[in-house]
Amino acid sequence: MRLLTLVFACTLLPAQGPNEANYDEAKVGAYKLPDPLTMQNGAAVNSAGMWHKQRRPEILRLFESQVYGKSAPAPKKLEFEVTSRDAAALGGTATRKEVTVWLTGKRPGPVMSLLLYIPNQRQKPAPVFLGMNFGGNQTIGPDPGITESKAWTRDGKPGARGASASRWPVEMALKRGYAVATVYYSEVFPDHKDGLAGSIIPHLYRPGQTKPDADDWGAIGAWAWALSRALDYLEKDKDVDAKRVAVHGHSRLGKTSLWAGATDPRFAVVISNDSGEGGAALARRNFGETVARINTSFPHWFCDNFKAFNTRVADLPVDQHMLIALIAPRPVYVASAEEDRWADPRGEFLSAKAASPVYKLLGKDGLGANEWPGIHQPVHSTIGYHIRAGKHDMTAYDWEQYLTFADKHMR
Ligand code: GCU
Repeated sequence: MRLLTLVFACTLLPAQGPNEANYDEAKVGAYKLPDPLTMQNGAAVNSAGMWHKQRRPEILRLFESQVYGKSAPAPKKLEFEVTSRDAAALGGTATRKEVTVWLTGKRPGPVMSLLLYIPNQRQKPAPVFLGMNFGGNQTIGPDPGITESKAWTRDGKPGARGASASRWPVEMALKRGYAVATVYYSEVFPDHKDGLAGSIIPHLYRPGQTKPDADDWGAIGAWAWALSRALDYLEKDKDVDAKRVAVHGHSRLGKTSLWAGATDPRFAVVISNDSGEGGAALARRNFGETVARINTSFPHWFCDNFKAFNTRVADLPVDQHMLIALIAPRPVYVASAEEDRWADPRGEFLSAKAASPVYKLLGKDGLGANEWPGIHQPVHSTIGYHIRAGKHDMTAYDWEQYLTFADKHMR
C-alpha cells in the first residue's frame, strides 16, 4: 500500500522540477535578447565612436554591477621575481621560467606563481597562450622541473604531476612558435563557497571594508583580474610579445577568459572553451545549466546582485552575447562540445552570432556562419566557432583550432 501511495505521488510530481535542467529544444521557450546596439535610453548606436565612448562603457558597467562584480584596480606597482629559469627544458626545445607575482604589488603579501615555457627556436619575442589551470602548475605536464603548488585543492592533496597534460599540449604550441603561460587558479581564489577569506579579495578591500559589496567581484572576477596581472608581467619579459597574448580557458575558466578579455583590452585574442552558463552561452535560453543553478551551486563565482536574476532572467539588462561584444573588434573564439549539453552548445553558437552586429559596426566580419556549423567544421572569422565531437573537455583538437585561429589573427 505504502509503495502504491509512493508510485501515485511520483506520478503527480511535475516531470521537470525547478532544479531539473531542460534538454528539450521544444521547451526552450521564447526569449528576447537585449540589443547590443541600443543604449539603455533607447538611442541607436550607429557609429564606432558611439560604441566605444558610450555603449561599450555602459555594457561593461552593467556586467560589473549585475553579473561579475567590479574588480579592484591594478596595483600601482608590479612586484615580481623570476625564481627559476631553465634554458634546456623539455629536451632543450624550451626555456622554462617560474615567476612569483605579488598580487597586491607589495612584499610581503599574497602571491601567484606563473609558469612560462618559451620556444627556444624563435627569431622574435614569442606570442603567448595564457590560461589558468585547475590543479596546480605541475599538473599541466610531466616536466619534473615545475614547482608543485601548495595552494588549496579539493581533496587536500597537490594535483599529480602531468594529470592535466591532455588539456595542455604544450609541445604542440611551442612547435608552432607560441609560448605557453599558466597560473593555478586556486592561488588567487580557492574554488569553493567559503574561498573568499583565502582569496586575494580581502587584501584589496577599501579602508574599513569588511565584506564584499553586492556589486563587488567574486571568484571569476578575481581569476580574470589575476590574468591581467600575469599580462603585466609578460609586458616586462623581453622573450615574449605581450601585444600578442591569447587568453584562454576551459569551462569556469572559459567564463574567466571572456571576462578577462572584456575587461582588459590588452588581450589580443580571447578563447572560450566550453564555457557555458555565465560564459558564452545565452542566459535567457533555457537549456542546460541556468542562472539559478549556477548561483546556487557556485555562490562565490559572481557578484551578489546576480542572484536577484535567479528567477527573472528575462530582466537581466545584458545577456552573454554582449560579453562577447565587449571584446570587439578583437578576435574571439567560442568552442562547444557535442556532448556538453549542460553548457548549451547551441546557446554558445547563438550568442557568438548575436555579437556579430557589433563587430560589423566596427568594420569586422563577426561570425561567418548563419547556421550552426556541423561537428568539426570550424569557422575562423573574427569571431571563431567550432563544435567538436565528445565531452566537456579541452582537447588537442580544440588547441589545433585555437593555434590556427591565432596564426590567422595574431601573427
Ligand atoms: C560545473 C558548472 C559549470 C562549469 C563547470 C566547469 O559543471 O555548473 O558552469 O562551467 O562546472 O567549470 O567545469
